[in-house]
Amino acid sequence: MSNEDLHEPRERLADETVTTHQAIVSLMEELQAIDTYRQRADDCDDAQLKAVLVRSMNDEMEHAAMLVEWLRRNVGEFATQLDKFLKCEGSIA
Ligand SMILES: [Fe+2]
Repeated sequence: MSNEDLHEPRERLADETVTTHQAIVSLMEELQAIDTYRQRADDCDDAQLKAVLVRSMNDEMEHAAMLVEWLRRNVGEFATQLDKFLKCEGSIA
């Protein structure tokens, strides 16, 4: 992992902070990939390629979900917030 992704000097960060950073950056990359594949699929005129792009988008959603689960298991406040909002009924706000 490159240190330029970090906002503070590596030597001042706890190992847990760096590991969580890796998960968060990975989740951001998966979400960006979902957005990219979705837009590319929308713009694609070839039906078979569109289907491949949609499948790729769905694969990225699986990866993102796994990372959210990692965060839930390893970052206490994430677990608290996910318990509060996932599958809740009514207004999210
Ligand atoms: Fe992925």
